[in-house]
Amino acid sequence: MPNSAQAYNRLMSDHYQCFKARRERLLAIMAAAGGGVAVIPNAQEKLRNRDSHFPFRADSYFHYLSGFPEPEAVLLLVAGETKKESLLFCRDKDPEKEVWDGFRYGPAAAPGHFGVDAAHSIKEFDEKLVELLAAHPSLWYSLGHDAEFDARISRAINALRAQARSGRRAPTTVHDVHAALDAMRQIKGVEEIALMRRAADISASAHRRAMRASAPGKFEYQIEAELLCEFRASGSQAPAYNSIVAGGANACVLHYVGNSQPLKDGELLLIDAACELDGYAADITRTFPINGRFSGPQADVYDLVLDAQAAAIAAIRPGAAFNDGHEAALAVIVRGLIDLKLLAGSVDGVIESEAYKRFYMHRTSHWLGLDVHDAGEVKRGEHWKTLEAGMVLTVEPGCYIRAADDIPAAFHNIGVRIEDDALVTSDGCDLLTDAAPKTIADIEALMRDGR
Ligand code: GLY
Ligand code: MN
Ligand code: MN
Repeated sequence: MPNSAQAYNRLMSDHYQCFKARRERLLAIMAAAGGGVAVIPNAQEKLRNRDSHFPFRADSYFHYLSGFPEPEAVLLLVAGETKKESLLFCRDKDPEKEVWDGFRYGPAAAPGHFGVDAAHSIKEFDEKLVELLAAHPSLWYSLGHDAEFDARISRAINALRAQARSGRRAPTTVHDVHAALDAMRQIKGVEEIALMRRAADISASAHRRAMRASAPGKFEYQIEAELLCEFRASGSQAPAYNSIVAGGANACVLHYVGNSQPLKDGELLLIDAACELDGYAADITRTFPINGRFSGPQADVYDLVLDAQAAAIAAIRPGAAFNDGHEAALAVIVRGLIDLKLLAGSVDGVIESEAYKRFYMHRTSHWLGLDVHDAGEVKRGEHWKTLEAGMVLTVEPGCYIRAADDIPAAFHNIGVRIEDDALVTSDGCDLLTDAAPKTIADIEALMRDGR
């Protein structure tokens, strides 16, 4: 079995075939629904201030279908009665701008590299869109994500409405193209799984490095620096989301990203951090003692969350419902909180009253892929999505005990979350993030021997 780095390197050699195959699948879906023109714009560069931009991140849908790395680009897929084609609109070559901002493919070179049928200057996009919409009855576009681009689409439609007397017609149907793509994105292909395994491996290494580096007196940001160094040094482009490095009471703030405080002897450190690799996210949380040894109450809460995670993982298999893992984890957490006398009553009663939400207020899973909270339905009406092989979801139960008069002091400010990424397989699931230690024995051994 090749390791994730070997699989990743092999994948990169014929990387672009998979984008073409996805375009062909979407075109087939469009054709089966009567055809039309799909418009998928890339993200725009965002100004931070004056001449500085935020790091550019492609739109996930555009990337999924094209792999084209430049801003100011739009993909048009045309499913006609007799012909299907993919057209890319991109920036022109510009030797002077390329001196300042770097290489541009330009319309002449793009088809050879990205396998589209033709590429044009982005300056021709608006005119070409009007022409294509006039010839097809449906527009496939997802409204409401980019007001400027929505206005551009409206202008094209209104241009056709204004030409009604000359016999031209605006499309009469609009399909949400994201809905079709969300269903595709929910089942990962082999090339996506290879990327996600590599992103997970790099992220797990970063967690091991953070465990080795932690010590009382250091600051949260110093541990964040260890994570970021491991991500970048291993070839990932960016964190998949803002890293949470939360010591002591900060672990009870679910979206704590200040990462500014000193680490204290006797407290836990919760780290929720992972990298993005070629567009694909990992998502890992580990919680461990800053001094390398769990106290009794910390171990009690930790093992409770670990047991809850094991119950959720055991519920992930094809045919199970998306929510089965959450229900399994919740039952274990509620039983444990009652046993620790932090909650009173029966398991069913506590679940019914939602009294557990004081300590466990988030859900156990979300989809993972190009986006850390990835595309795709979890529920339709009353029915939870059925798991299928190729789906990837997180498993992340937690327990957060804030200081309060009715809570024994030994439990104050214990915040624990344990998060792994599960690929649904033909008969269960495969944890992509297993290389980050999580039993108390493994964590304490790494912190003792690995420093
Ligand atoms: N890191 C984001 C999440 O766990 O959902
Ligand atoms: Mn998550
Ligand atoms: Mn997370």
